Amino acid sequence: MSPEALDGRTAFISIAYLGASIAFILGLRGLTRPETARGGMQLAALGMIGAIAGTLVNHDIVSYGWIFVGLALGTLLGWPLGMRVAMTQMPQRIAISHLFGALAATLVGIAEYTHHVWGGHELGRFTALALGFEVLFGALTVSGSFMAFGKLHEILPGRGITFRGQNAVNLTIFVSAIGLLGYVVFAPTTSWAFFAMAGLAFLAGFMMVLPIGGADMPVVVSLLNSYAGLAAAATGFALGNAVLIICGALDGASGLLLSVLMSKAMNRSFSNVLFGAFGSAKPALAAGAKGEMKEVTLEDAALALRYAKNVVVVPGYGLAVAQAQKIVGELAALLEGHGNEVRYAIHPVAGRMPGHMNVLLAEANIGYEKMIEMEDINDRFADVDVAIVIGANDVVNPAAQRDPSSPIYGMPVLKVELARRIIVLKRGKGTGFAGIENDLFTEERTSLLFGDAKATLQRLLTELKTL
Ligand code: TAP
Repeated sequence: MSPEALDGRTAFISIAYLGASIAFILGLRGLTRPETARGGMQLAALGMIGAIAGTLVNHDIVSYGWIFVGLALGTLLGWPLGMRVAMTQMPQRIAISHLFGALAATLVGIAEYTHHVWGGHELGRFTALALGFEVLFGALTVSGSFMAFGKLHEILPGRGITFRGQNAVNLTIFVSAIGLLGYVVFAPTTSWAFFAMAGLAFLAGFMMVLPIGGADMPVVVSLLNSYAGLAAAATGFALGNAVLIICGALDGASGLLLSVLMSKAMNRSFSNVLFGAFGSAKPALAAGAKGEMKEVTLEDAALALRYAKNVVVVPGYGLAVAQAQKIVGELAALLEGHGNEVRYAIHPVAGRMPGHMNVLLAEANIGYEKMIEMEDINDRFADVDVAIVIGANDVVNPAAQRDPSSPIYGMPVLKVELARRIIVLKRGKGTGFAGIENDLFTEERTSLLFGDAKATLQRLLTELKTL
């Protein structure tokens, strides 16, 4: 190939990678607000197309056949994963994505290493470090994500599994893997040390997620996202690929930040989540309810809503399960048609993933300006005529503020109990994610409409239309 063609190609790759990096950064920025999230996602996807295009013209490519087989397989797997998976199964879907991403990084790292060492090419210390780091974090993420997927999808026991001396065992495995990485850097061609390190890292991933369960799982998934990003960045150093370094670093940093923010919103200590059995997580208790839940008739609930000047809808996981978001939108439109004001109270960890409620309500074309974040709406609850809680439980549990013995004490919650009237939609007397009773449901101003949220809302809508 002529030097001019090579230069043109190099320039194209550089421009494609630069454009992709800019698109990833701006895309990530777009994801910080619900209004711009869709555009951000599309921009990031465009960036990914640019990165793939740049990679496809790379002069190091020896055969396009296998690449297209991979592209076809990836599309066949990725399309149904993106289109068909229910929103409530998103955390395990994300865990599977990390598994694939980390597997790719691990395999690339192993291929590069063997290419150098067994192919008789020279392997410098810096490249050995980058490859070792890539395979260490990659292998750890593969097994960790597999465990997270299994637990969240309930094919493995969801609760954390602990045993005596677990932390010492975990620490030994991890420190040994790091030690072997050091040895590989010192003597890059010692392939036994490289593969032993990969094996130990793989084991470390399993062991790391083993003691973690319940509410901590999505935090771990986000942390594994961060590890997958670090593995990708290391791949970038090993291959001299700038776009991998940039997007790996973005992924690593954003995953870590999200883990910390999620822990904070659930009032869980991050180090406790990170090191599983290191801390002493208080087990969730199913304490007995202190009072009786009172039911409200459909007519009474409809009248209360119809004559309320302002209504606040408090959505939770049950709304997602019932898939009742569209009917919520119809009910709100009817009330607004009568001049009532309807707003939505958004708790940062309502549902099962960050932004779950925003996405759900947006599906019903509810404007983002009507979705009010917890910190902003909490001061306004005292002026709310009717708060209608739809499938929310832990995020409206007043015990988090007033009962120091509660397992969720200290977690910021929506102060729904301050509203003039509270109507709760749930199927029965079931507890929420934390498995604890909720005194809000037995308070004086609270009454309940039992049944699946979608069916109840449908009946409520029909009743409202008769008024
Ligand atoms: P939950 O506390 O899980 O409560 C959901 C409620 O919905 C339950 O009380 C259940 O009661 C009711 N429900 C279930 N299916 C229903 C249906 N078809 N129709 C009507 N009601 C139904 O939900 P939440 O208040 O949204 O709290 C979220 C919890 O998940 C928090 O503890 C949070 O820490 C945890 N978590 C969140 C995340 C993120 S990032 N969002 C991640 C991990 C953990 P019945 O059984 O009586 O119907």
